[in-house]
Amino acid sequence: MTDLISTHTHGALGIIRMTRGPVNALGHALRVAISQAHRTFESDPAIAAIVLTGQGRFFSAGADITEFDSGRRAPFLTDLIAQLEASTKPVIALVNGIAYGGGFELALGCHGLAALSDAKVAFPEITLGNIPGAGGTQKLPRLIGGPAALDIILSGKPISAKRAHDLGIAQSIDGTEAEALTRIEADLADGPPQRLPRDLTVEGSPEDLSEVAAPYLRRARGAPAPAKALEGVQMAYDTPLDAGLAWERETFTALNTSPEAKALRHVFFAEREARKIEDVPPQTPKRALASAGVIGAGTMGAGIAKCLADAGLSVTVIEQEQDRLDQGLARIRAIYDEAQSKGRLSKADAEARLARISGSTSMDALCEADIVVEAVFEAMDIKRSVFAALDKICKPGAILATNTSTLDVNEIAAATSRPEDVIGLHFFSPAHIMKLLEVVRADKTAPDVIATAMALGPRLGKVPVLVGVCDGFAGNRMFINFNREAQILIEEGALPWQIDAVLSDWGLAMGPLAVMDLAGLDVGYRIRQARGPQSPYPFTTADRLAEAGHLGQKTGRGWYLYPDGARRGQPDPEVETLIKAVSQEKGITRREISDEEILHRCLWQLVNTGYQIIEEGIAQRPSDLDVIFVNGYGFPKTRGGPMFFAEQTGLARVAADVRRFHAEIGAHWTPSALLLEQAETADA
Ligand code: COA
Repeated sequence: MTDLISTHTHGALGIIRMTRGPVNALGHALRVAISQAHRTFESDPAIAAIVLTGQGRFFSAGADITEFDSGRRAPFLTDLIAQLEASTKPVIALVNGIAYGGGFELALGCHGLAALSDAKVAFPEITLGNIPGAGGTQKLPRLIGGPAALDIILSGKPISAKRAHDLGIAQSIDGTEAEALTRIEADLADGPPQRLPRDLTVEGSPEDLSEVAAPYLRRARGAPAPAKALEGVQMAYDTPLDAGLAWERETFTALNTSPEAKALRHVFFAEREARKIEDVPPQTPKRALASAGVIGAGTMGAGIAKCLADAGLSVTVIEQEQDRLDQGLARIRAIYDEAQSKGRLSKADAEARLARISGSTSMDALCEADIVVEAVFEAMDIKRSVFAALDKICKPGAILATNTSTLDVNEIAAATSRPEDVIGLHFFSPAHIMKLLEVVRADKTAPDVIATAMALGPRLGKVPVLVGVCDGFAGNRMFINFNREAQILIEEGALPWQIDAVLSDWGLAMGPLAVMDLAGLDVGYRIRQARGPQSPYPFTTADRLAEAGHLGQKTGRGWYLYPDGARRGQPDPEVETLIKAVSQEKGITRREISDEEILHRCLWQLVNTGYQIIEEGIAQRPSDLDVIFVNGYGFPKTRGGPMFFAEQTGLARVAADVRRFHAEIGAHWTPSALLLEQAETADA
């Protein structure tokens, strides 16, 4: 027994159990341990067959992704699989829980595949910008046919034990390991399993793949891995296995070093790192959450209520007036109806979740709630009075959360006698869809409240990131500065459609001006008016547009024109005239601005602000800010987020640009001391 594997015998079966925490990733040491254990059992005359299995929730999560950057050493996974395939005694994979990527390929390299009912197999490599690299593209089509295999490879999604059995991947399903071992022994008595995928051929023709491939290739937006996956599965039809495997190996290695794959790996680890909090260790106790209250059933409150009900909590929604409550509950039902109509949820599941949601016009109904999320109008006096009331009503130990996107959570907490129970949960709109959850820690928030809120995130299907209190927290504070730079560029000489084109070519789902048109120009206008003259944002053109009723898509014109309800805007000559007039009024001589300048000024605003935020202790690390931008602001995962992009560009270069912009453009480019410091270290 090592901390990598354990071995034991069960009659004439030699069992190799992978035990490498946390997920049985197939790193070098584990590969060596399996190889040696296999050799030992193979040479033991008392052993008739070998069973390879895992423990807990994991058979194996696949290749050790950390080795992709730190370098891999022989024996490679392909060597280990070849050893098992050539075994003189049959090897049976007994798949418990998750068998992903290389874990799935390891199982496909065995002479038989028995599943436990909790087994799940997948090839998630595509989500990391790659294709399976240890036989998946060649062997799965041989086992289950090209189209079904391609769908598994291109979707990256897990399939259940039952589906794996129906497709012919698993030969049996058992409820427990003991039952499976008894079955394996009985099956062996009838003769050894003889179904190695490598010995099979693919039926049909590669043309059969086009229908499966088409939607994935359309969505790929130029990412290379999906096309390579198709090419690999096509080869499986008519290329000898070893040639196919050699092609796959080479392609996998090449794709692994692509900028997209590096960025996607960064995001994978960044999302996991974001859960770690320096002064709140993983063993911090968490409060039990079974019931929730949501105050306010507007768009935000309705989405939040759905997330909580989906996670299995019973939810009480509060609105003061009965008709508003009825509208709110109808809004929640509409979200479930939509999920059903899109086939995301069965009718029975939707009804079961809806049954967990009730409404009340009295906050007293929250007296037993374990957590309350306030989602009322964004005004400090209203929020404070809600929290003062909650303080009187809620049971001791209840978590009191505010969904504010801008207000000072310390001030809200001070309206209660228990600021240690108060925290911010900043959902992004639409709350039931957007993955990001900013967990806002106030000065007095208790560690167990932070730990509970961070653990709630994944339960709600969200990616939580811890931030501190400041205007806009991390995401909005950075994003406002990004938008402000776009406005300044417009005043200096760029046009909205140029800026949007540069940023969407870089990978943003939509450019910032098109986003303003979608959200409505009145939204930002109202916030700026409320902030009054001290508002630091030169949104003059945007304000003029809003005042002239150019509110965006909803009025058919904003920064763009939307004739006949079009969803894609067209450049508007009147807007161009207005922009030029504003520049003239401000005494700015318009100039030609290069695409590169636009890109760097917008992105480095995010980066410089990001480093300031870290300097101030508002966010823990640069990668947390990447997690925020890819999950909450439509930034492409294939770029890894703004902070990663800056690191890849070179922090010394970024710092030099920021210094130059500071000298040439203005005080809002004051370089972050931390950025300058990091740039020097990166340079050294
Ligand atoms: N290689 C290296 N480390 C891995 C890993 C892998 N293939 N899969 C997971 N880990 C690490 C995570 O980074 C995390 O580390 P941490 O605790 O230090 O933060 C830990 O294992 C637990 O992973 P986590 O994702 O938090 O657990 P989970 O139970 O939520 O999810 C999986 C488990 C397997 C579904 C998920 O980790 C996953 O999808 N892993 C990637 C699988 C993959 O893509 N394999 C193919 C590689 S090409």
